[in-house]
Amino acid sequence: MDKFIIQGGKPLNGEIKISGSKNAALPLMVATLLSPGKYTLHNVPELRDIRTMAHLLRIIGAKIEFADHTLIIDTTQADFPEAPYELVKTMRASIYVLGPLLARFKAAKVSLPGGCAWGPRPVDLHIKGMKKLGVELNLDGGYIVANCRKLKGSHIHFDVSSVGATGNVMMAAVLADGMTILENAASEPEIIDLGHFLIRMGARIEGLGTKTIQIEGMPGLHPADYTIIPDRIETGTFLCAARITGGKITLRNCQPKQLLEVLEKLKESGAEMVIRENEITLKSTTPIQPVNVTTDVYPGFPTDMQAQWIALMSLAAGSSVVTDSIFTDRFTHVPELNRLGAQIVQKNNSVFIQGVNELKGAPVMSTDLRASASLVIAALAAKGKSEVFRVYHIDRGYEKIELKLQQAGAEISRENAGDVI
Ligand code: EPZ
Repeated sequence: MDKFIIQGGKPLNGEIKISGSKNAALPLMVATLLSPGKYTLHNVPELRDIRTMAHLLRIIGAKIEFADHTLIIDTTQADFPEAPYELVKTMRASIYVLGPLLARFKAAKVSLPGGCAWGPRPVDLHIKGMKKLGVELNLDGGYIVANCRKLKGSHIHFDVSSVGATGNVMMAAVLADGMTILENAASEPEIIDLGHFLIRMGARIEGLGTKTIQIEGMPGLHPADYTIIPDRIETGTFLCAARITGGKITLRNCQPKQLLEVLEKLKESGAEMVIRENEITLKSTTPIQPVNVTTDVYPGFPTDMQAQWIALMSLAAGSSVVTDSIFTDRFTHVPELNRLGAQIVQKNNSVFIQGVNELKGAPVMSTDLRASASLVIAALAAKGKSEVFRVYHIDRGYEKIELKLQQAGAEISRENAGDVI
């Protein structure tokens, strides 16, 4: 397994190009199962999770080429409606195949997901949605075993706003008989991107970006090409890295309007920013002001930025509180940040952070994707050398992060840590 060696204390200074969105690319890859044929997806980030999803689609029978951020997917030969445990346990997003497999094959056998290390990750909303569309499902040996004669449009209310369940059910509903209405649907940009791709494929969808999405089922769709939106979480991550190191950074190929709440909180922390349509320049010349955050569904402060924000607040000139209202136990990064000298105490789904004057380099352990990003951010600001272990977590969702940071002046390198940890 690889580790990062980081010599901290150097302000970031330079430019970084933002990659395509992991959380848009993953459902779009799966949507190609809905209609046999050849699809080309552009601006696809080169990430571990993308390769995992490509592997899953090959198991289902798709042919896939992936080069230079372009995915060519041919689902003509797809004929095996199963998602095996050994793949699904490594990536929760594998559950996205459930809807498209049912829509195309009227049958699916999908392992219950594993995914990130924090807490149980239920899929009850996915199951409830499919049942409302006329699917017969049961759980057998850790698998969802599902079949249907024909998907029927339905009126579905999600008790909890769920990105995955909204995407999964939307991908089934586009080929159902009649109208489907989703209430309390997710309005995240990645779901809007999925909806735009489905419309490009011939689907009829209204209400994308609102809490109520209407889908008029069609008898069939057709292949389409598409360019994926930039990754708003990668954007926010690099902004926090520039802010905490007192640097100046320009991010290109980003979409500022998709992370307005993060930009607002960075402004409150004292960051100076110049924001253009597809570019953000952040300058960090003043002490970091403490800013409280409570995560929320879009357009609120994203839970995927919670860990990075806690790292930034660890060096604020005062105390702050960060609460995660989406995932109540997503704080495995906190003990590792405290190893770097942060003063953070967790109580239920909130952490209380007392800003310190300095962090000190130390060996720390990544535990999940965004936790690793938060450790890298803190290590970049810490005085002296840090080692961040198990960076395979970060490789799931950040394309060549150490090369991008090196280009912006960071002293970071990747080394093999053997099998020790
Ligand atoms: C998506 O996960 C993202 N992953 C996550 O990003 C992100 O943290 C999450 O949305 C929230 O924004 C992808 O898009 C691949 P949810 P998802 O269903 O769909 C509860 C990253 O770092 N819930 O919106 O799995 C759930 O427990 C990853 O890139 C149910 O109760 O999240 C949570 O409390 C991590 N029942 C809330 O809904 C269900 O059936 C939101 O989860 C499903 C979810």
